[in-house]
Formats: sequence, C-alpha cells, structure tokens
Amino acid sequence: MSNELTKVEPCTLVIFGASGDLTKRKLVPALYESFRAGNLPKEFVVLGVSRSDIGDDGFRDKALPFCKKQPGHTDETWAAFSGHLRYCAADATAEGDWGGLVEAIERVGTEFNTGKNLLFYLSMAPQLYEPVIENIGKTGLVMDAKRFCEPDENPPWQRIVVEKPFGDDLESAEHLNRVLGRVFDEEQIYRIDHYLGKETVQNLMAFRFANAIFEPLWNRVYVDHVQITAVETVGVEQRGAFYESAGAMRDMIQSHLLNLMAAVAMEAPNSFKAADLRNEQRKVLEAVREIDPGHIADSAVRAQYASGEVDGKTVANYVEEPGVSKTSNTETYAALKVYVDNWRWKGVPFYLRTGKAMKRKLTQIVIYFKPTPHTLFVQERGERPPNRLTINVQPDEGISLRFDGKVPGQGLKLKSAIMDFDYLDQFGGQIADAYTHLLIDAMTGDRSLFKERSEIEAAWRIVMPVLNHWAALPRKGMHTYAAGSWGPEAAEDLYAGKGHWHNPEGQSTRFINT
Ligand code: BG6
Repeated sequence: MSNELTKVEPCTLVIFGASGDLTKRKLVPALYESFRAGNLPKEFVVLGVSRSDIGDDGFRDKALPFCKKQPGHTDETWAAFSGHLRYCAADATAEGDWGGLVEAIERVGTEFNTGKNLLFYLSMAPQLYEPVIENIGKTGLVMDAKRFCEPDENPPWQRIVVEKPFGDDLESAEHLNRVLGRVFDEEQIYRIDHYLGKETVQNLMAFRFANAIFEPLWNRVYVDHVQITAVETVGVEQRGAFYESAGAMRDMIQSHLLNLMAAVAMEAPNSFKAADLRNEQRKVLEAVREIDPGHIADSAVRAQYASGEVDGKTVANYVEEPGVSKTSNTETYAALKVYVDNWRWKGVPFYLRTGKAMKRKLTQIVIYFKPTPHTLFVQERGERPPNRLTINVQPDEGISLRFDGKVPGQGLKLKSAIMDFDYLDQFGGQIADAYTHLLIDAMTGDRSLFKERSEIEAAWRIVMPVLNHWAALPRKGMHTYAAGSWGPEAAEDLYAGKGHWHNPEGQSTRFINT
C-alpha cells in the first residue's frame, strides 16, 4: 500500500495448485490485467504446478475463459501474455518430483531472464502446505541473500504467498507458522487475505486518515455500535467437502471480517509502511475481549441454510448439497458480537455476520452514531434515527451518510436524507480485483496488506471459544434460515437493545427457526 507504484523486478512466479479454481478464476486473470496495464516486466514468467498432465496449453486454456472477461481483453494481448505461462506436471508434496521441478524452475528462469527472484504461491488444499514448504526448503532455492551478496548489491529475493485458510484452529496456525519459519524469514512470508486488497478497504484508510473531519468522531464518545456484513448469494457450490471442514466462522469471520474490523478500529499508523500498518491492526485484534466460554450464545449465532430461492433459482437444503453430510454440523451463517477493550472503543459493540445463500451479495461496514444528547424537535421526540455512515465495500462501491433535515413547508417536520459518494461515478475507471493489487505487492516486496504471524494467531484466539463450544454441541441446536433470506431470526437476539441488522431491503423477513 505504498504511495508510489514500485516497478516489478524480473521474477518467476511458481503457483502450486495450478489446475485449481483460484488459479484460473483469480490469479491468472489478475496477472493478465497487470500485464495489459503494462505493470509486469518482460522478464516475467508464471510456472503452474499441479499433478494433472495438462501441459502449457492446457494450463492456458483453463484460464482463458476468465481472462476473456477482463476489460480490455484482445486476442493479441492474450497471445502476448499467454507466452509467459508455463506448466510443469509434478506432485510438489513428493520429494522425488522435485528434481524435475527445480529443473523446470531454472529452465523458465533462464529463458525469461528472471535471475534468482522467485515468488512461490500456495494455492492448493491447505493440508498440502506443510510438505510443499518442507520440500522447497530442501531444494536450496531459498537463499540467505544477505550471506551471498555484498551490502551494496541488490540481492535476489525469494518469497512465498500463503492462501487462506491459514490453519483450521489456533494450534494448527501456530504449527504452520513454525513450518514456514524453518524455511523462510518472516519478511519473506506473505499471508494473503484478499479482502485487504479490495479497493474500498484501502479507501477506508484514505477516508479515515486523509480527512480531518471524521477521525474526531471515530470513537466510543460518538459511535454507538458498528456492523460489518459480508454475505453472498452463492451456496457452497462444488466446495461442499472443503466447506464441511471449515464453516462460516473459519472461512469468513476469522479472516475477512476480523480484518475489516481491524481496519475500521485501528489507530492512525505512523506511516503506511508494512511494519506500522500491521502493528496497528494487530493491536486491535489483541484488544478484543475474550469471549466467555460459559455465555457463547450471548456473543455468537450459527445457522445452516434450508431450501429456498436465491435470484429466482431454487436452492436445496445445505445438507443435500454435494459433498455435505446429511447430519452436518457445519454453519453456513455466523454472527459474532465482540468488544475492543481499548481507550478508543471500550463498550462499543462490533457486530460481524456472514452467510452463504443469502438474499444479496453484499459487503458493508455500517457505523451507527449516538443519538443527539437532547431532542429539540419535540414532535419527533425519540423517533429520529441516529446518523449512520455506510461503507459499501462491494458491490456499488461507495460511502453514504444519513442525516436529518427539515422538510420544506410550514412547521418543523424532519426527514432523513442520504449523502452519497459513488466510487466509480466520482473517480471513473474500473475497480480492479483485489488479487491484481496483492500480486503486484508481493512481487514488489510490499507486505503492508499481508498478515503477520501474530495477527493470524490473534484472530484465531478470538474465535476459538466459539468454535470449541459449537463443536461440542449436537446438531439439534443449529438454527436454520431459508436460502434467499437475510439469515436466522436468532441473529437479531445478539442485538438486544441496540436495534437491528441493517439490510438494504428492510429487516429479516423470511426465516425458519428449528
Ligand atoms: C473466500 C471464501 O475467502 O472468500 C469463500 O473462502 C467466499 O467462501 C469468498 O465465497 C468471498 O470473496 P468475495 O471477494 O467474493 O467477497
């Protein structure tokens, strides 16, 4: 998140899990966009690695339909870009396959003149991370650059990007951090959370710290509570088997939502250098009050979707989805209430929620301000809604502020009005996918939007009491919600005394509760 666009140095990007969904849907299209925008050097090559024997062309063909959807796509640009895509069929978890793999890495490196600069990307099933990292360690490809170079030389670099999920509980995350630490220095490790790369999340920093008028209000004196929502219309699709071992709390809240919260609640960093930014976000996570294991229901709600209709299409019960157990105890919806116990936020609840198969795709941060200390407008006493600042992370990226005004005419009748900022209307251009920014950051060595070891562990510490409690509960206690609704009614109970979840089309209307 540096102020200037740093030039990408020559490099070889090795993607493990090259035949998977993330690679074809997100990573290659993001690189294609950077290539089209002229942000990649000609000394650049992607080496896709996975077990299937698909060859260079098979690798390119998988990504082509997604690249074609990129704005500015032309056959010529694709032809030029796809020349930088190479493939090597290998099982990176098997030590025996690494002879051929190292040879392929060196061959493409020489062909594209990328020197020894290497970016590894783990985009595979998380249970495969450990053997792959260990095998990378055994190859000697990760050099101790300082040892091999004179102080005034520009040493070659090797880095690794680690996709989420980063562990499936605190213990496994600590273990993965240790495994990584045996091969890479902390500065070489890029733990990705693509939400931090979203344009609107970066804009939150600009909104808060490039303007003088909001920061004085951004605290417990003026803010009543904060809501963070990230809901989707998609169900679990073909990811049932993975999702069964994750669930909404692990998949979304432990990472994306807590990171959004940290961005909302952090203090101004000394600078936007990685160390300063990460330090402030980590402090927020570490200040979260421990959730009382004896009163989990006061802080967390979980639910599964039942059949319903999303965007005019019928959706089956979660337990009937492919790869899902009929007796599944996995939540597809989770809501969590947390408190950040520090000087700025003491006593202000942060409500987080996420769900699959919901009414709309929406990621939104809503700051509710406190009511005025005294109501002067007697005819409206007690009825006026407080000021509300809504940050639309996606879609309809923008910010809006609700305030009261006088309706023209005789007498003092008040009405709420909305002041709107629409990102695209205002600034034009297009919103690039988060991976476009983050891949360039990883290649230029900018770690400011990547998580540090201690942040990942702090986030796990927050959710562990809830996960442990839920794991011990029988399925009987699971709430349900109709697919296409705004979630279970039980989630409203978390709000006790504070109002409701903010849903663009009114409050939750369709729910079933068993
Ligand atoms: C991923 C989760 O990290 O984020 C998915 O694993 C989820 O389950 C996705 O669908 C949502 O990302 P976005 O950018 O579409 O909001």
